[in-house]
Amino acid sequence: MNVYDSERMADILTPHGYSLSDRADDADLVILNTCHIREKAAEKVYSELGRMRRAQQTRRDHGADMTIAVAGCVAQAEGDEIIRRAPVVDMVFGPQTYHRLPEMLARLDRDGARRKIVETDFPVEEKFDTLSAAGSHAGVTAFLTVQEGCDKFCTYCVVPYTRGAEFSRPVADVLAEARRLAAAGVREITLLGQNVNAYHGEAGDGGNWTLGRLIREIAEISGIARIRYTTSYPSEMDHDLISAHAEVPQLMPYLHLPVQSGSDRVLEAMNRRHSAAEYLALVDKIRTARPDIALSSDFIVGFPGENRRDFEATLQLVEQVGFAQAYSFKYSARPGTPAAAMPYQIEEAEKSDRLAVLQQLLTAQQRAFNAACVGKDFDILFEKPGRAANQIVGRSPYLQPVHIEGTAELIGDITKVRITAHGANSLSGRPADRAAPAHDVAIRAGTPA
Ligand code: 5AD
Ligand code: SF4
Repeated sequence: MNVYDSERMADILTPHGYSLSDRADDADLVILNTCHIREKAAEKVYSELGRMRRAQQTRRDHGADMTIAVAGCVAQAEGDEIIRRAPVVDMVFGPQTYHRLPEMLARLDRDGARRKIVETDFPVEEKFDTLSAAGSHAGVTAFLTVQEGCDKFCTYCVVPYTRGAEFSRPVADVLAEARRLAAAGVREITLLGQNVNAYHGEAGDGGNWTLGRLIREIAEISGIARIRYTTSYPSEMDHDLISAHAEVPQLMPYLHLPVQSGSDRVLEAMNRRHSAAEYLALVDKIRTARPDIALSSDFIVGFPGENRRDFEATLQLVEQVGFAQAYSFKYSARPGTPAAAMPYQIEEAEKSDRLAVLQQLLTAQQRAFNAACVGKDFDILFEKPGRAANQIVGRSPYLQPVHIEGTAELIGDITKVRITAHGANSLSGRPADRAAPAHDVAIRAGTPA
């Protein structure tokens, strides 16, 4: 979501004479687009601001200047407190106000005097009215925000406070943006939202569309070969969306479906509104619709009150599901959330131990998943040149980066690739129609099919 928001900020400022700079140190304007989800992310902002203060001084010593802004959810949560703590900051604006950037910049220096600007209100619809992925920063793949905010109020989470209540963009706006992206050469669209599968956009006829319906319509747009969506909330996976996985070939067989914990006690304290058994039943349903689907999840360890047995239940759930990929975090108390005030907060060292155990299991599952891809033929959408010479990188249907030898002409194409090797996070291979090198043939000749 932040990557998408940053691209939109760049789009908005382009007609006002700004262009992207490679290095923050050379910039007239530096915008730190921040994340407030865990304490560590929020604290990084202040160390980065220290660095920007020195960069600003260097520019001033050379007769130039630098405007420093803090955007995103730390800005939303802390407001003018940021300027008090870091006076170098000129502007603070939340995730719902960045469409006003040109006007804010003009206000900053009105009448020759510099004044500080803090904008943290919530005019979501207004923002969506003025925003659209213009195409100047569009590549082969693009994000498209269809839904923002969340009112699930998981007890550990700041999102409902920083991003505000759930809001779905109207269907017509989303489709118009998807068509613009397709016309600009985009082949893969990832529909974005904090709670994307809770999408319920107005359709103009007085009704609302679900995400499943929206996906089916986007699949009709010529040029769009792949559709993904993230992030989903388990109890919002409705029948229409699950059956879209069976029926829409453009919908990729990969789903990020955070479960957070495998313990019913903890899930309840988290206010997740589903049990471990319900999550497992949902996974079964999704796999029945699309047997080759790969799943990914988020986990939190060391939630207040989580005991060894709760943690074991999480490990057990992971064993039962088998994830292709996952993110796991130590619980981080966020000011103002109910969980931060709960008793039985877990020691940091204990959290670290549990995280290490969980990550070991998840990493092993990811490795096993990648290893099982070797020898298969996948459609790969090529996105960019690789780091090595004469190498390009694309994505498998399961979102794994795939490296092959090839030239930039292949970028934007979808090509069948025989996977020949795997690493911890990526795969490599060669076009499936190309004759295998002699040693490969020799090995395969001796292997039963
Ligand atoms: N502490 C740790 N992890 C958190 N997440 C959200 N809030 C917290 C928190 N307070 C994790 C959840 C969520 C992901 C985006 O971040 O796992 O799914
Ligand atoms: Fe946060 Fe996701 Fe829960 Fe919403 S559903 S409160 S964004 S963890």
